[in-house]
Amino acid sequence: MRDPELRTPSVRKTPASGRGSVSLVEGRVLRSLRELRAATNECRRCQLYRLATQGVPGEGPAPAPLMLVGEQPGDQEDLAGRPFIGPAGAILDRALYEAGIDRDKTYVTNAVKHFKFEPRGKRRLHAKPNTQEIQACNWWLAQELQHVKPRLVIALGASAARAVLGRTVTISSMRGAATPLSEERDAWVTIHPSYLLRMPDEIQQRAEYARFVQELEAAREWLQARPSSESSGA
Ligand code: URA
Repeated sequence: MRDPELRTPSVRKTPASGRGSVSLVEGRVLRSLRELRAATNECRRCQLYRLATQGVPGEGPAPAPLMLVGEQPGDQEDLAGRPFIGPAGAILDRALYEAGIDRDKTYVTNAVKHFKFEPRGKRRLHAKPNTQEIQACNWWLAQELQHVKPRLVIALGASAARAVLGRTVTISSMRGAATPLSEERDAWVTIHPSYLLRMPDEIQQRAEYARFVQELEAAREWLQARPSSESSGA
């Protein structure tokens, strides 16, 4: 996590907009995840709020030993205001279940809190967030980490890995093993469930899914062997 700006933003009029929009820019401390959820909609740290329906904060208990980080909300998440409830969420739920991980005891969030898309007629096509957008949104992830205090953070895919590790990595070089983030916290990198949805070959898809479940299971076992006093309770 590279963003040291953990004390911040108050809501202030943005002179540049001239339309009374607000920007989260300075000296405000979010005291709870409840406050954070409300404040997500005030975020103007990048331009993605302009087209998105709403900011989609993470959800789950705090503290929690395990945090899952995805890329950004998809179409359904944007409309509902909840992370991982669409097609990628369905795969994730099944994989978590098979890996013995209880989603209700896990904090689930995204690297970027607003849906980035390209309009195509009536459809909204997912567009990958760029490094600046991931960095701008890192402030929110840092806030979530402060409140949730997870022992292990699982990054789903390259954008999440970029956000959690603060650098660009390839999934193949990092997946399936713990990477220390601090004395109290490790990261675990694996694929994003949408990657499975995009695979045209069914046999390959099944094999990748099985590997995904194995990696989640290995992460659970790793975590069970290293309980944290900060985030016990799962
Ligand atoms: N993909 C993500 O990365 N996050 C979601 O919440 C949904 C789809």
